[in-house]
Amino acid sequence: MVFEDVTFRYRADLPPVHHGVSFTVPGGGLTAFVGPSGAGKTTVFGLIERFYEADGGRVLVDGQDVREWPLERLRAAIGYVEQDAPVLAGTLRENLVFAAPGATDAQIADVLARTRLEGLVERLPEGLGTPVGHRGSRLSGGERQRVAIARALLRGPRLLLLDEATSQLDAVNELALRETVAQAAETTTVLVVAHRLSTVTLADRIVVMDAGRVRAVGTHAELVAGDPLYGELAATQFLATTPDVRT
Ligand SMILES: Nc1ncnc2c1ncn2[C@@H]1O[C@H](COP(=O)(O)OP(=O)(O)O)[C@@H](O)[C@H]1O
Ligand SMILES: [Mg+2]
Repeated sequence: MVFEDVTFRYRADLPPVHHGVSFTVPGGGLTAFVGPSGAGKTTVFGLIERFYEADGGRVLVDGQDVREWPLERLRAAIGYVEQDAPVLAGTLRENLVFAAPGATDAQIADVLARTRLEGLVERLPEGLGTPVGHRGSRLSGGERQRVAIARALLRGPRLLLLDEATSQLDAVNELALRETVAQAAETTTVLVVAHRLSTVTLADRIVVMDAGRVRAVGTHAELVAGDPLYGELAATQFLATTPDVRT
């Protein structure tokens, strides 16, 4: 997964959003994207999925320009969990197999374990057959997010893109999300737009974006020592909005 000097604007009459974005993500592991609101983080995901195409530079997935991938194959290779992870009307099971109708019970059980949703299934009166309601109103925010991750993982993606929700999580859901992300990164390449220090500290590498540029790449320790913006984000935004469960 490579961005090579990518420039991009949403419309000709709007200012550029990416001013030459470059980074390389090796296969496997967890890469976190952090930066102020409007930095262009979510746009990175839109360009990988080819919802939009770069005006200049290249986006490579598996070494191949996304414009050369057959769109269906590209999208099939990617699991994308958007920031406001949608849970649909219908049962929990229907929500999980929505994009993978051939999933077996064993595959569903595996993914429920990996996303720490087994307890939820036990608590629901009809288990997997329980209607979870329009937009998942029967689930907590943290559970909705993990249901969306479980749905994406059931498709066996090569690349998982996770745009973390900004809403606050209680300590139990925070830990469950952290474990889910860590485990997903053991088997697939995971890119996460991170809003929690607890996710960021897990990352193999962190890409710090600001105003449409990559300003630094490194580990948490390297960036705390070397990048003032990262230090500020880590000390205020992350810590202010989430409990610290690094221990
Ligand atoms: N669909 C869109 N049309 C026009 N402008 C957009 C669209 N999506 C995002 N933008 C603008 O692009 C910039 C970067 O947005 P985004 O990638 O969502 O940033 P981040 O995820 O880092 O907060 C912002 O100025 C935002 O307003
Ligand atoms: Mg965003």
